[in-house]
Amino acid sequence: LKVGLLFGGCSGEHEVSISSARAIAQALKSGENTNKYEVLPFYIQKNGIWQGVEIAQQVLAAGSPYLPTDEQQGKHNLWQFPSQASEIDVWFPILHGPNGEDGTVQGLLKLMQVPFVGTPALGSAVGMDKLAMKTAFAQAGLPQVKYIAVNRSQIYSNPCVFPKLCDEIEATLGYPCFVKPANLGSSVGIAKVRSRAQLETALDNAASYDRRLIVEAGVVAREVECAVLGNDQAKASVVGEITYTSDFYDYQTKYTAGQADLIIPASLPDAITTQIQEMAIKAFAAVDGAGLARVDFFYVEQTGEVLINEINTLPGFTTTSMYPQLWAATGIPFSELVDQLIQLALE
Ligand code: ADP
Ligand code: DAL
Ligand code: MG
Repeated sequence: LKVGLLFGGCSGEHEVSISSARAIAQALKSGENTNKYEVLPFYIQKNGIWQGVEIAQQVLAAGSPYLPTDEQQGKHNLWQFPSQASEIDVWFPILHGPNGEDGTVQGLLKLMQVPFVGTPALGSAVGMDKLAMKTAFAQAGLPQVKYIAVNRSQIYSNPCVFPKLCDEIEATLGYPCFVKPANLGSSVGIAKVRSRAQLETALDNAASYDRRLIVEAGVVAREVECAVLGNDQAKASVVGEITYTSDFYDYQTKYTAGQADLIIPASLPDAITTQIQEMAIKAFAAVDGAGLARVDFFYVEQTGEVLINEINTLPGFTTTSMYPQLWAATGIPFSELVDQLIQLALE
């Protein structure tokens, strides 16, 4: 079976995608997978141009991006697929963030009429847009933090609207609150704000990333995550916890070695673990997920409350990432996990 491993992508998580793809390519070329799969990597440059197997293999070997060449300047040949793409039996997209985890590439793969690993376009888009995601979670009865939806036009169009918006945020959510672009990832554009001045700056900054923004009440909580695997009969892994000493789990904490620790399994009361696993499966169904997802929660220890934070339909998949580590601790090693994901895509 020819597996098209699609990685890179136009997002701030391009480098993470390369690391995820390296780990998956390795797992597909080892052990029992060797006889089952032939891996053909395809690489999407940061400017959206697709590259075929030769350059993709160079990127995987180097572990760093292939930079756009001068003659590519101003060209939009995203749609000129490398010819080898026509040979693929099943795609394994491992793109994180916008233009890859958000349903765009999933729509394209559907048009190609070739099966692919992971959630189709609808669920990917709902999972990526924090406002759409929260609406789906609310409908499923999943508890979450209080929030306010904001549109960029409320910040820039009319000078009277902006102060009223800030008044409403202060009255409804208070400080600290979190200002976020609705469609991003890896904490890019997110700020924890404690004053009116910080709120105004954070809204302005978040609006430079996205038209749609969200402001959430800040909670003091432990951050716990659960992995989901399957299609309509999905199962949940053991629960893991992320600990760090910084103010919140921001970009630097996520990607600087040694700044965050993963604790697997998290030390939690059994009833809380079970509740998180049930909520993870409910969240997966709420967005109509398929294949895989990592569902992230806040556990407010003082009150015993579990609040859902978000779902990631293409979670980080490096050898040290939470998603594969949660499954390893549940009894599914990395190479078996990628095998199962491909089989689920073919169901
Ligand atoms: P991303 O999709 O970029 O991962 P998140 O919504 O998960 O964005 O937020 C990133 C981090 O910011 C979280 O892991 C957490 O540390 C912190 N955070 C986000 N929202 C809240 C909140 N409402 N209360 C407390 N911490 C938050
Ligand atoms: N968005 C990053 C890759 C994650 O969820 O792990
Ligand atoms: Mg997150």
